[in-house]
Amino acid sequence: MYNKVLIVSVLLAFMCVQFATSLTCYTCVTPNDCRSPKKVTCTNAAANETSQYLNVYHQNVRNLTSLRFDCLALKYTFASNTTATHQLHGCIHPDVAPCSLSLRPEYSYNWRRSTCNVCSGNKCNKNPAGKMSSSVYTIAATAIGLMLAKIYA
Ligand SMILES: *[C@@H]1O[C@H](CO)[C@@H](O)[C@H](O)[C@H]1NC(C)=O
Ligand SMILES: *[C@@H]1O[C@H](CO)[C@@H](O)[C@H](O)[C@H]1NC(C)=O
Ligand SMILES: *[C@@H]1O[C@H](CO)[C@@H](O)[C@H](O)[C@H]1NC(C)=O
Repeated sequence: MYNKVLIVSVLLAFMCVQFATSLTCYTCVTPNDCRSPKKVTCTNAAANETSQYLNVYHQNVRNLTSLRFDCLALKYTFASNTTATHQLHGCIHPDVAPCSLSLRPEYSYNWRRSTCNVCSGNKCNKNPAGKMSSSVYTIAATAIGLMLAKIYA
């Protein structure tokens, strides 16, 4: 019995560590920067940094501590001429809900949100084909689920 509990705990801990530490997102903070984005491994520090950038333009951005992260791709253009004015990619605390944030009044009158995607899966915030890696996680989670079912059977 204790053996099973131990195995389950180790598996769960392993899963949590995997989910918490292994996500990689593209990161960039200006339209120019976003032509050649860097990669970052998601941590609370990286997600806090994204929150800080969001906070420059939005109201009610929260600083949080998360166990898991998502990748963000956000782009604003001018309302008048669709020139990209602001672009931000990076790791995000899921509970920040970046796509439902309101712009600060000094920006909202002439900015339009042209893209806002929150996704899970390595590097999913640049290339939508990057969804592969999230299905790898699904397969891994399913496999672990089956193992757990077997242990308890
Ligand atoms: C992120 O922000 C939260 C809230 O301010 C804080 O508690 C936490 O320590 C920060 N994490 C890092 C790694 O800076
Ligand atoms: C979030 O934390 C950073 C650094 O710890 C701080 O500079 C920033 O003002 C905080 N933002 C909010 C909305 O609390
Ligand atoms: C687009 O509009 C903004 C403000 O409305 C202006 O600052 C910018 O220069 C314009 N860009 C182009 C390419 O016309």
